[in-house]
Amino acid sequence: MKILVTGGAGFIGSNFVRLIYYERPNWVITIVDKLTYAGNLNNIADLDKNRVKFVKADICNANAINKFIKENDIVVHFAAESHNDNSLQNPYPFIKTNLLGTYNILEGIRKYNKRLHHVSTDEVFGDLSLNDPKKFTPDTPYNPSSPYSATKAGADMLVRAWIRSFGIQATISNCSNNYGPYQHVEKFIPRQITEIIEGRKPKLYGNGLNIRDWIHTDDHSSGVLAIIEKGIVGETYLIGTNNEKSNKEVIQMILKLMGKDLNDYEHVSDRPGHDLRYAIDSSKIKNDLGWKPKYIDFEQGLNDVINWYIENKNWWEYQKHQTELKYNKII
Ligand code: NAD
Ligand code: TYD
Repeated sequence: MKILVTGGAGFIGSNFVRLIYYERPNWVITIVDKLTYAGNLNNIADLDKNRVKFVKADICNANAINKFIKENDIVVHFAAESHNDNSLQNPYPFIKTNLLGTYNILEGIRKYNKRLHHVSTDEVFGDLSLNDPKKFTPDTPYNPSSPYSATKAGADMLVRAWIRSFGIQATISNCSNNYGPYQHVEKFIPRQITEIIEGRKPKLYGNGLNIRDWIHTDDHSSGVLAIIEKGIVGETYLIGTNNEKSNKEVIQMILKLMGKDLNDYEHVSDRPGHDLRYAIDSSKIKNDLGWKPKYIDFEQGLNDVINWYIENKNWWEYQKHQTELKYNKII
């Protein structure tokens, strides 16, 4: 199998590449990644360059990526602008990469008749009320709230249209919020861990009652692999581990695990349009493909991640400085 991974230098893409590297030793891996602020070659520095070819390229430039689509059997498409808060500051890169970039991938897939797996998020479904007994399923109507989720929803719709109108061989996955090592410190969990390491208080948006359904990134990657190997072309699979927690609960778990007082956090202004709750029903991928998550103990997973950030300060120190300047609107 020759596999092309877009966004393979990012948080989840690099985790997926590492899974393939170790679990499928005969597969030949190529990464295309633009190396935006979120892409980092250190994420894949431990992998043998003879087995993982890295190409710096922008998916918005069809000419730059078509050659690699042609040379491979399958494209797993992770590349995206991925952070809601950035999309509220400047939606344009989201429109370009998530929509135009995905369009270019789809046209390459159509032209060279290759298989595609498109990686998406549960945020395309909008949000649930706190007491809604329903969770998201593959049939939940799309109702995105932010420029980020709207562009991911648009990208998914393009994939669905290309499947139906052009018969391309594609699958889609929508996963819940990921946590794990190598996650950019702009995101909720690493931001709070690194705030505490740097001697500041974690920052809770609004009242902190918003709920996210946390999954370890290793489990997201194994879900994507299951879909590539066993999924039915044309289908959408939802990946999640039944792990709904309010943001306040997560901050207090982090504080506890880091030996701090449970009230040692601060409330900051809420995110405009802040989605209240996400929750995934993952019965389809479990029942149809036999996928099972590895991380069932969230506190243990969180503790491992805290230790990773404590031990890998050189990985995040520079991006932390830049991120906090951005959050404080200094740059
Ligand atoms: P990330 O921001 O850490 O990584 C994105 C990667 O894409 C980076 O390496 C970046 O350099 C690359 N990239 C961005 N624009 C590009 C372009 N124009 N051309 C080529 N490469 C480009 O994101 P992530 O958290 O790893 O998310 C990966 C995918 O998973 C995204 O599609 C995201 O929507 C989806 N997803 C993320 C989560 C989550 O919790 N982070 C949950 C569900 C789904
Ligand atoms: P985030 O990691 O940005 O993921 P998403 O917006 O895709 O869910 O945020 C997760 C949750 O944490 C979300 O409800 C917003 C909240 N949040 C905070 O309370 N404080 C923060 O500093 C950040 C970055 C996020």
